[in-house]
Amino acid sequence: MPLNIELIDKIINVTTKAAISCHRFIGKNDKINADQAATDSMRNEINKLEINGEVVIGEGELDEAPMLYIGEKLGSGKGLDIDIAVDPLEGTNFVAKNLPGALSVISIAEKGNLFNAPETYMDKLAVSNKVPFDATDLDYPIERNIKNIADSLNKDISNITVCLLNRPRHQKIIDKLNGMKVKMKLISDGDVSGALMVTDEKYNVDIFLGIGGGPEGVLAASAIDAYNCKFQGRFIFDNDDDILRAKKMGIKDLRKKYNLEEIIKGDTIFCATGITNGDLVKGVNINNGRYITETLVTHKGSNKCKIVTREDTIKT
Ligand code: FBP
Repeated sequence: MPLNIELIDKIINVTTKAAISCHRFIGKNDKINADQAATDSMRNEINKLEINGEVVIGEGELDEAPMLYIGEKLGSGKGLDIDIAVDPLEGTNFVAKNLPGALSVISIAEKGNLFNAPETYMDKLAVSNKVPFDATDLDYPIERNIKNIADSLNKDISNITVCLLNRPRHQKIIDKLNGMKVKMKLISDGDVSGALMVTDEKYNVDIFLGIGGGPEGVLAASAIDAYNCKFQGRFIFDNDDDILRAKKMGIKDLRKKYNLEEIIKGDTIFCATGITNGDLVKGVNINNGRYITETLVTHKGSNKCKIVTREDTIKT
């Protein structure tokens, strides 16, 4: 069943208010309080909605996160049963250091349709919808993925762009890509945005890959779904605690590779409001006593993807 279209504006309001609440922390080198402000605001705004919501991806588990923890009930408790994935501040370093790319992000789906992801790393791959589904796979060697993308797009390998987090754990991949003379977009943080770069040719990214946060992977998958792009992810459980948590969440096969349709099902609404300027959306801007914000909105049910600009009065 599709989600009520009127919910879209209400969800835009949630990320917009969270982004605005974070604005005063830009460049203040205080990522903890920036994250807390966004989290408090998001919780407050979702609680005003007529939904019976539950956080499936949040700011940690009950014992470690004061708010928006996995399993937290949100909303009035009446209305549609909704699964909620949140990242109130995606890119804490970006806000702390006044760098481009910070977002406030949410995704909602009907109960049972959003993957309940553990707080672990995930090996991810996202590819443009111009590339046939079978041309790429997490299990293929990197060389094969790149060659297949180049063949499908009728491009020279040297004109393929790969986006990935700039991390020591990716050094072997980076060396291989250098050896192949592939172009790279090495991002310092923010891999929800990184994955979303494959959704439109204007970003000039043909494939996003590498290891980043699992929750961020699920959020990216839900946005990518509305663009009919490819997403695959495999969680990485490298300690006993992670394995125990995964088992508690019902994950039996710890090495399972998840395709997009196993991560997100049915209708979804995804919103990402810019906090600092970025490739996807502009950050919060103040003009004539008003906050101007941009939100990237995707709605699977209507296959709509758009950028919404809003003006909110600054309360004094
Ligand atoms: P935060 O906003 O929580 O700081 O996350 C930023 C981020 O870059 C994510 O986009 C990414 O998935 C993750 O951190 C990567 O983790 P790590 O910095 O440990 O490589």
